[in-house]
Amino acid sequence: MAFQISASHIRAVSCMSSSMPRVRSDFQRAGVKFKHFFTLGGSPGSPQFGRTPVASPARGEVDAAIRAHRFSTTTAAGAPRKFVQANGSSLPRGRSGWLGKFALGAALGASTAALVQSFHTGVITAMSHKINLGSAEGDWKETKAFLLSLSLEDRRPYYRTSGSVSLVDIPVWTPTAGGSEPSRYQRNQKLDQKISVYSGDITMLEIDAIVNAANKTLLGGGGVDGAIHRAAGPLLKKECASLNGCETGEAKITCGYGLPAKYVIHTVGPIAQGGVGEQQRRALKSCYKNSLEAATSNAARSVAFPCISTGIYGYPPEQAVHEALAAVREFLDAHHDKLDRVIFCVFLPTDKELYLQNLPLYFPAETTVRSKL
Ligand code: APR
Repeated sequence: MAFQISASHIRAVSCMSSSMPRVRSDFQRAGVKFKHFFTLGGSPGSPQFGRTPVASPARGEVDAAIRAHRFSTTTAAGAPRKFVQANGSSLPRGRSGWLGKFALGAALGASTAALVQSFHTGVITAMSHKINLGSAEGDWKETKAFLLSLSLEDRRPYYRTSGSVSLVDIPVWTPTAGGSEPSRYQRNQKLDQKISVYSGDITMLEIDAIVNAANKTLLGGGGVDGAIHRAAGPLLKKECASLNGCETGEAKITCGYGLPAKYVIHTVGPIAQGGVGEQQRRALKSCYKNSLEAATSNAARSVAFPCISTGIYGYPPEQAVHEALAAVREFLDAHHDKLDRVIFCVFLPTDKELYLQNLPLYFPAETTVRSKL
């Protein structure tokens, strides 16, 4: 029995071995399913050998524990062994070694778990040699699928930032009783431990999603937009270019690429140079709500916001803070089970003061009763 590993799946090339059903069920138990079962067609050595697909009794969606990547090898007794990547270039010998081991293991009946593990390790090894997050040459879809399939640990070698800040190192904000003004919302204990105010560079945050204060083209700019694109690398712009822009108040999600954050949620804040009206207020609140919607729709449970629109777009920070806090409070009231942490990432000391001063109005420590007098 041999395996054909190609074009993102494992194909079992069986010499009609009687062990096939057992192996298939072993692999399925290990979380890896086969897309096809090929019987060896043609004679060993012929181009058709091992490549004649037959209607497989068991078709399943291949969802290998990791998304295998574009290289193909067919190893079967006597079949020509060729290690190629999707673009046809051959894998240098060293990189093809693991494939040979995998196939050999399969042929020798290694345990399924060992095969899956060696396959997993091998694909990471093979793909890691292909990934270059500093270059615009790569296929963003393939790179995104690969990065999103990695564990946090396996993704770390790909960060392009000088460092990263883990979620556990971002302190939780706890409401203190006795704020200066009566709070605008009732106390909700379910929201305790879900808010942070973090002073620093949002590109360093190793969390599920960071929000980008983008412009309608989504093709990068200055401010936090520029910082995020620089840190993520050029594939971010390639994916953004496929999104056909973004309207004010809307939000669209992409992979984080070279960022410690798994995702980037791009939102376009209102331009408020000429002052803030109801339209700008509503649009800014939508940025926060739609960003949290995009996050929870992608199972992102930790999200960081910059102070959207308060830089180049000129929205007065002392007014923006209220739209931001109200939007997050209302979203968490409705969806607190879908989010572990919302982080207000402030870059300027004045912004930090603004958030600490106003948070108790939206996330009170106690139910403050507005005075009747
Ligand atoms: N990390 C966190 N916050 C940052 C960072 C950073 N690395 N860099 C800037 N900021 C802060 C700014 O201090 C400001 O408080 O982000 C906030 C938003 O400022 P801008 O980035 O200027 O965003 P915005 O006001 O929404 O204007 C958007 O600017 O960069 C262009 O392409 C962008 O056209 C769009 C416009």
